[in-house]
Amino acid sequence: NANQMWGGRFAAGPDAIMEAINASIGFDQRMAAQDIAGSRAHAAMLAATGIVSDKDAEAMREGLLTILSEIEEGKFVFSTALEDIHMNVEARLKDLIGDPAGRLHTGRSRNDQVATDFKLWTRDQMDAAIEGLQALMRALLEQAEQGADWVMPGFTHLQTAQPVTWGHHMMAYVEMLGRDLSRFRDARARMNESPLGAAALAGTSYPIDRDMTAQALGFDRPAANSLDAVSDRDFALEFLSCASICAMHLSRFAEELVIWSSAQFRFVTLSDRFSTGSSIMPQKKNPDAAELIRAKIGRIFGANVALMTVMKGLPLAYSKDMQEDKEQVFDAADNLMLALAAMTGMVSDMTANRPALEAAAAHGFSTATDLADWLVRVLDMPFREAHHVTGSLVAKAEAKGCDLPDLSLDEMQAVHSAITEDVFTVLGVHNSVASRTSYGGTAPVRVREQVGRWKEALA
Ligand code: ARG
Repeated sequence: NANQMWGGRFAAGPDAIMEAINASIGFDQRMAAQDIAGSRAHAAMLAATGIVSDKDAEAMREGLLTILSEIEEGKFVFSTALEDIHMNVEARLKDLIGDPAGRLHTGRSRNDQVATDFKLWTRDQMDAAIEGLQALMRALLEQAEQGADWVMPGFTHLQTAQPVTWGHHMMAYVEMLGRDLSRFRDARARMNESPLGAAALAGTSYPIDRDMTAQALGFDRPAANSLDAVSDRDFALEFLSCASICAMHLSRFAEELVIWSSAQFRFVTLSDRFSTGSSIMPQKKNPDAAELIRAKIGRIFGANVALMTVMKGLPLAYSKDMQEDKEQVFDAADNLMLALAAMTGMVSDMTANRPALEAAAAHGFSTATDLADWLVRVLDMPFREAHHVTGSLVAKAEAKGCDLPDLSLDEMQAVHSAITEDVFTVLGVHNSVASRTSYGGTAPVRVREQVGRWKEALA
């Protein structure tokens, strides 16, 4: 039997395979609340503009609320034959209130309807990402404040480079996540235009009030071009690209946590609450949450590429290809929120192993740059020559199997006769970090400044 929405033109119903490939209700039921909010706003507008009677609009709005509670209580029966959330809701409205339900779709199409629902859903996820990021940033700030003057090795090429502070390292992630936060905020501001009332693609001849529905749904204004309004999925792509960059940051940090929690590094101890054991090796405590966060970037970035690819060849306006937008965004959003929450939990719970960090900071000739700088400052040596002299001292220490501060003054003077006892004051890791007071540098005073600035920004 033919479809109840467009049965007029059809003699036969769809093949089972057609129904299977066409139906989106399996996933777009997640937009039920948004669909009902959009329809309620539309119904109120239809009455305010005199397109339908107040009585009919009231019946629609009441009926839609009933449907919302049926869905929330798990009593609603979703039907694949009804294809998607829009037609499932409308069909149920017909059961509930009869004929007035048939007037709801006046001056509207599923094309502007789905764009509206999906925008509302994505907008909520942007808000959730913003909140999740703020929570994680607060957890990092606490770590940074506590360890503002704890010394650890800073790396380049994962080789010991110069000592930095634990707080400085934590604050590096606060900066990255701060940019993620502002990216989500920018995207949210840009997307906040209402597609509702664009109708199928060309607008409508009914005297609708798009400002009214835009306002009711929390949009800043109606979208200015009806063709664009129903075809635009930039907002979903922006969500996915913001999410990809954010997940990339989480993944880098997760990688560090995996390395740092190993027996070889022992920089951090993850809590039992955020670790797992092994079924065979009794000693194991594995950083699974960090590993899974590191892996999530794969599916989030994949969603971004998938939707870009879906969209890239579509002629204006709506094509059914666009139905493939939702699962990508749903999956990416679910996994981003999970990754943010798991990272927040891990960071709040983890313990930095201060003695191990400090011991590691002193290994690997991490203060060689400080030594070269001393030669420049005290002996007025050109930096290139100081670099060379220091290199010889490092080679000497390496041959002896010791660190720079373990060389005797005699051994130093054998390399350069003008070196004095004073050089030993710059070879310690604490002096090293304390001296790096340039703006943005690793000195504890600078780190505390940045912690203060971000605390205020997040307050
Ligand atoms: N389920 C569809 C989607 O997700 C709704 C829009 C259908 N519009 C249409 N003209 N077939 O995109």
